[in-house]
Amino acid sequence: MVTEQPLLRIEHLSKSFGAVQALRDVSLDVPAGRVTALAGDNGAGKSVLIKCIAGSYPPDSGRLIWDGHPVFLRGPKDAAALGIETVYQDLALCDNLDVVQNLFLGREKVRRHGPLDEEAMELAARDTLRNLSVTSIRSIRQRVGALSGGQRQAVAIAKSVLWNSRLVIMDEPTAALGVVQTRVVLDLLRKLADRGIAVIVISHNMNDVFAVADRIAVLHLGQLVAVRPIEELSRQLIVELMTSGYSEGSGSDAAAAHRSTPAPAPAPAPAR
Ligand SMILES: Nc1ncnc2c1ncn2[C@@H]1O[C@H](COP(=O)(O)OP(=O)(O)O)[C@@H](O)[C@H]1O
Ligand SMILES: [Mg+2]
Repeated sequence: MVTEQPLLRIEHLSKSFGAVQALRDVSLDVPAGRVTALAGDNGAGKSVLIKCIAGSYPPDSGRLIWDGHPVFLRGPKDAAALGIETVYQDLALCDNLDVVQNLFLGREKVRRHGPLDEEAMELAARDTLRNLSVTSIRSIRQRVGALSGGQRQAVAIAKSVLWNSRLVIMDEPTAALGVVQTRVVLDLLRKLADRGIAVIVISHNMNDVFAVADRIAVLHLGQLVAVRPIEELSRQLIVELMTSGYSEGSGSDAAAAHRSTPAPAPAPAPAR
């Protein structure tokens, strides 16, 4: 279900690194219960945008409205406290630890005055994986380093469910996966959204975008050039928007948004 008020509202976010303006006045609503795909060519500003949402980069200007309230994130911990979980490409899992240890890393359950409550953690781990229909992981006491790419993604996603995340951000989750594993991960993302979690997924892969996204936001040279329900865009139009920031056939919004904004300043020449 989508409520009137978006879970996250990004307002007029800008961020520069020296002469490179990575984000220019980006405004985007992120609703609960929906998968929002974030697309854009290399260097478009996708990672910088999610790092601003995840508390890793402070924006130069603009603000984030969470659940109707302006928030200022001093770091990733502030974002985590709100329920924002980011799964980066390297996944931040520890290969030498098993599945349960990874799921509870830094948030271990302990018995009163005593050792870790392994039983409770195993139970919660098993429950969470079962709820997500993750059946391919044979033993939750297996080291994560021994799992396949898809299984590792499943563990990362289970972690966000276990910790009651409200917004899950995935940066290219299927980049290194085969066809079957990709399907499993996309199904998991769908399940997160069906539970009312807001999902942002960065992807270059149009098959993935069309398989899982409800809506798509396209960045071009740091500017948001389109935000549309997925039904309203074709692959070709998305690629056009990604490469030129403009598309003749993309209908009102994108074209109008483009017209109503002043012509973007030319991209700064790369430093030599
Ligand atoms: N920490 C940084 N320092 C300097 N420039 C950066 C930094 N992070 C990103 N950039 C620049 O910002 C722009 C957007 O980068 P990024 O968000 O990583 O693009 P992508 O859409 O490929 O994820 C690029 O020009 C990149 O070089
Ligand atoms: Mg990136």
